[in-house]
Amino acid sequence: MVKVTVCGAAGGIGQPLSLLLKQSPLISHLSLFDIVNTPGVAADLSHINSASKVTGHVGNEQMEDALKDATIVVIPAGVPRKPGMTRDDLFKINAGIIRDLAVGVAKYAPKAFVLVISNPVNSTVPIVSEVFKKHGVYDAKKIFGVTTLDIVRASTFVSELINADPAQLKVPVVGGHSGVTILPLLSQVEGTNKLTQEQVEQVTNRIQFGGDEVVKAKAGTGSATLSMAFAGARFTLAVLDAINGKSGVVECTYVNLEADAEGAKAIKQVVGDDVAYFSAQVQLGKEGVAKINAIGSLSDFEKKLFEAALPELKGNIVKGASFITDAK
Ligand code: NAD
Ligand code: LMR
Repeated sequence: MVKVTVCGAAGGIGQPLSLLLKQSPLISHLSLFDIVNTPGVAADLSHINSASKVTGHVGNEQMEDALKDATIVVIPAGVPRKPGMTRDDLFKINAGIIRDLAVGVAKYAPKAFVLVISNPVNSTVPIVSEVFKKHGVYDAKKIFGVTTLDIVRASTFVSELINADPAQLKVPVVGGHSGVTILPLLSQVEGTNKLTQEQVEQVTNRIQFGGDEVVKAKAGTGSATLSMAFAGARFTLAVLDAINGKSGVVECTYVNLEADAEGAKAIKQVVGDDVAYFSAQVQLGKEGVAKINAIGSLSDFEKKLFEAALPELKGNIVKGASFITDAK
């Protein structure tokens, strides 16, 4: 029996994500936490005739009930971008929100798998890790940055070009989750050899800046919510499958490379010793990260993308971690 808590459950992502999770027979209790409106969202979802119980919890005084005994905590809490903003611009508001939620999870659900959606993911995941370290409950295998939307976009955009089934086409996307730190590895995808270099560069750029495409189209009302809910549900269900003993569950996700020392060695040969967190293809198991797969072969174009990505990624990681470690 698995309790899943969604923090930020009343938001643009939180509501459709909770709807998708309500449909899973693998969840026995769906717990919705937010600073507003979760009683209404919970009442609404609770009328759906799937097996899980739904509860709504509002504000800090109800955080313990929301989180205790959770096996998975999914976090889409915090502000989204408006046109002209970078994800890093969200740090000044979202860093504190994530810190406070991470403190709650460390206290009330210290063994939970934590799935971080809130931006900037490159920094919010290190924040959660450092809070867990401070509370003595850190397990690198169980803290994940959700980068699945990059994978979903890559499957969609590349399949349009090579005439493949988007639901089946797998495009590895590694690195981080912001602009140039998003590294699609098209050269590893069968069928992309028929693309011109210009097409490869254009679709790579579209995957890297897919979030901006949505932010611009939404014209100030927010960023991706529905596609993110889809992606967030896909990743949560993959974690649930792995917890339930399914083998061969592999998803790209942003983790601390400490989660698998062997896998880290191979990745650090490509990205350098000083990159602590990286999104890679990760094999998921009952305890979380089972294995971090190697990056694989890169084209010359992809090698250049790596060079452009690493300084920004490293800066984002240090900024997130030091928000906790340097706090008075
Ligand atoms: P939103 O404003 O619609 O919803 C956010 C929700 O978080 C709101 O309901 C708000 O009340 C709640 N919240 C704020 N502070 C909270 C706290 N302390 N505890 C609990 N809940 C709190 O925003 P959204 O569109 O759902 O986006 C949420 C976040 O997800 C943003 O940071 C956005 O950038 C990020 N995002 C990430 C990805 C990704 O690929 N990882 C994709 C899309 C959006
Ligand atoms: C996305 O990739 O859509 C999200 O990270 C939201 C954003 O700000 O672009």
